[in-house]
Amino acid sequence: MTRRQRRATRLVSAALGLALVGPVWSAGGPAPLRVCADPDNAPFTSADSREKGMYLELAELIADRMGTRAEPFFFRTDVGRRALRPTLLAGRCDMFIGLPDAADRRAGKTIVLTRPFLEVGYALVAPAAFILRGLDDLDGKTVGVLFASTPQTLLSVRDRVRLTTFKSTEAALDALAAGQIEVAFLWGPEAGYRAAQRGLLGGFGLTSVAGLNLRWRATIGVRAADVSLRDQLDRVLADVAPAIARLAAKYHFPLDTPVDLDVPDPTAPRAAVAAAPPPSKTNPFRGDPSAVVAGRTLFNTHCSHCHSPNAANPEPRTDLRRLANRYGERTDEVFYTTVTQGRSTKGMPPWGPALDEEAIWKIKTFLESVQRSDTN
Ligand code: HEC
Repeated sequence: MTRRQRRATRLVSAALGLALVGPVWSAGGPAPLRVCADPDNAPFTSADSREKGMYLELAELIADRMGTRAEPFFFRTDVGRRALRPTLLAGRCDMFIGLPDAADRRAGKTIVLTRPFLEVGYALVAPAAFILRGLDDLDGKTVGVLFASTPQTLLSVRDRVRLTTFKSTEAALDALAAGQIEVAFLWGPEAGYRAAQRGLLGGFGLTSVAGLNLRWRATIGVRAADVSLRDQLDRVLADVAPAIARLAAKYHFPLDTPVDLDVPDPTAPRAAVAAAPPPSKTNPFRGDPSAVVAGRTLFNTHCSHCHSPNAANPEPRTDLRRLANRYGERTDEVFYTTVTQGRSTKGMPPWGPALDEEAIWKIKTFLESVQRSDTN
């Protein structure tokens, strides 16, 4: 298209009251459905045309139903980097597959979500004879986890589990195959896919787990302005549900019924947990010097690798010495909610499953001793 033709098209679109950039699918033409995709995130998306990944194949299925074709917009998302702004929100692609479900069907103000189309979660990979009923079954075992993953958080406070940390799913599975660890606690879809690639699925089995923020439902995100695309996707997703299950099986995503780790094992002595008072939203240890000391140790054990030793963090976003300044009277509440629930899309893990309330408030008491007012 020449510049003049483009300009003419825009004028026509404007005259028709259509958005200047955008919902080409509703025009009924053959415009492709552009999918935001990481080129190297198998088994979800991949630039390798022999094995495109579950989400890209799903996109093709959807596009086909909508009478068009899927066109990936590849963008490398390094772990922890925010991937939506330069892709979906910048208008370079029209849908981002795999965002977590939310009650209001939104991710922030700028993105709306489809119905969930698949459940994804963590899974244990272990010798086929291993049976998991609860986390206690990992006591005394050597367990492999990925660095800074939710399972690492969860197990780091369990003294009887011997943790080994890995940089990749592949490395953890290789250690499992070599007998260096007894169980690997990994992101299920990737674990299933990589285990199948290595021929491990005969001798080893996958057990999915739920509860404790270990599992969520995947949706497709589109720009809030494209809510009609969202509605169209909802209808298509309902139609292709059986094909989605087949795709998940093709990529060896674990499809077993998950073991719910939130349900206490009836044989274990858990009365103390059951009798615990409901969480309070104010710090019961405020000003207690021994809590400052205990809290500092807890902080330097569990939090310092992201928030710096003794909380002396130069990065404003993760500098916890600015909490009081930032949140004023709401600080206790924001702190408690953030620590127990995490901010999973921003790299802050949930600690509710791993740390009890007393530990959480001791950490807060330590942080109160290092708050500063000269920063914002
Ligand atoms: C794997 C890295 C990681 C670990 C470990 C971690 N955090 Fe965080 N935390 C983050 C990141 C990243 C953010 C910023 C999230 C954001 O931008 O909203 C954050 C944010 C927070 C906030 C909110 C800060 C604010 O100003 O809104 C609190 C409170 C917090 N963390 C407490 C803790 C505590 C307490 C621990 C240890 C029990 C901990 N974090 C461990 C990564 C981590």
